[in-house]
Amino acid sequence: MTGSAPSPVRMGMVGAGFMGRQHIDFIRAARGAVLTAVADPAANPAEFECPTYPSTAQMLDAEQLDAVIIANPNALHVETAVECLQAGVAVLLEKPVATSYAQSRRLVEAVERLYGRLLVGHHRRHHPAIARARSAIRGGELGQVVAVNGMWSARKEPEYFTEAPWHSEPGAGVTLINAVHDLDLLRHLCGEVAEIQAIQGSNVRGLDVEDTVSMSLRFESGALGSLIASDAGVSPWGWDQATEESLAFPFLPDEVAYRIVGTRAALSVPNLAMYAYAPSVPADWHSPLSRTYLPYAPRGSFPAQLDHFVEVARGTAAPLVSADDASRTLALVEAASLAARTGRTVDVARFSADAQAEAEADG
Ligand SMILES: NC(=O)c1ccc[n+]([C@@H]2O[C@H](COP(=O)([O-])OP(=O)(O)OC[C@H]3O[C@@H](n4cnc5c(N)ncnc54)[C@H](O)[C@@H]3O)[C@@H](O)[C@H]2O)c1
Repeated sequence: MTGSAPSPVRMGMVGAGFMGRQHIDFIRAARGAVLTAVADPAANPAEFECPTYPSTAQMLDAEQLDAVIIANPNALHVETAVECLQAGVAVLLEKPVATSYAQSRRLVEAVERLYGRLLVGHHRRHHPAIARARSAIRGGELGQVVAVNGMWSARKEPEYFTEAPWHSEPGAGVTLINAVHDLDLLRHLCGEVAEIQAIQGSNVRGLDVEDTVSMSLRFESGALGSLIASDAGVSPWGWDQATEESLAFPFLPDEVAYRIVGTRAALSVPNLAMYAYAPSVPADWHSPLSRTYLPYAPRGSFPAQLDHFVEVARGTAAPLVSADDASRTLALVEAASLAARTGRTVDVARFSADAQAEAEADG
């Protein structure tokens, strides 16, 4: 039986800045979607070859959209997403879903109440190396996971902070803007985090928000983790440099973002180098280690994310990253911030329950 291909999903873009423009390029390259309109108070109508509107409300009123991608400043995420869900369109919401855990719970409640179709833009989860790493970890190929080490450090240009002032105000910072992706991936790969400790600093940039953070994690599985993130330090170590995801960043083949050590083998990600003792030698530290690379079919995570979003918008797939899932990652960011302020170890489940109870009491 042959069927005609479904019509492309009509997509609106909310926020056409650094990230929004990249989404627009991905929509233009996709077969399943068509860019129908842009909403951005600063948009130049001549630039986009489609109608532009100064607000999301005006775009939703004027256009028949199936879906929107939201890449406006973080502080607007929840209200914009709820507005779009109420209009009945599917939403791909950039990370972080909100600027606080309490706000993110409002979004989770709205998604449930409105039966909304909402995917969160933790795009790295769509990378084929991550799917392969997850199956290696979950399938026991490393043995019992003992520890994980992650790093994201890159030196952002001064204009990043002066041209978009929200980048240097509370509601931004390297933990919420960048390390949120790493925390999300570490949860995806290694499971939920039970406890977190953190130290934050703004020694280099001197802004209200931190430029560098160091976190220690205890996973529910018992594995331990450490994660360093900085937007002030030059480095080749981080997801953006270790993948060809974006032409905006240099690509250094074979660089590493995460190292995961287990009782049988170690794995670096995203190059998927796996280190293990040969079966013929004793499995201890005196034996030579072999290195093999786990194979996977290469594909960029943004195009894969967009294809998945088309399925979510059509109602044929459940979101790989739901609002509830992303909200748990945000709880970790907030727990890290509390740990850094107080110097205490934060119990993540207790912190999340207290924050939710406080949010409910505030209405
Ligand atoms: N997934 C990723 O890897 C990734 C990378 C960078 C940024 N982001 C996320 O994308 C979002 C945007 O970040 P950015 O770096 O592109 O910021 P940006 O400042 O470059 O762009 C934001 C855009 O939103 C527009 N805007 C402001 N108010 C608006 C409103 N009320 N309605 C519609 N548009 C409005 C601004 O005019 C601007 O063009 C943030 O949430 C950020 O965390 C994600």
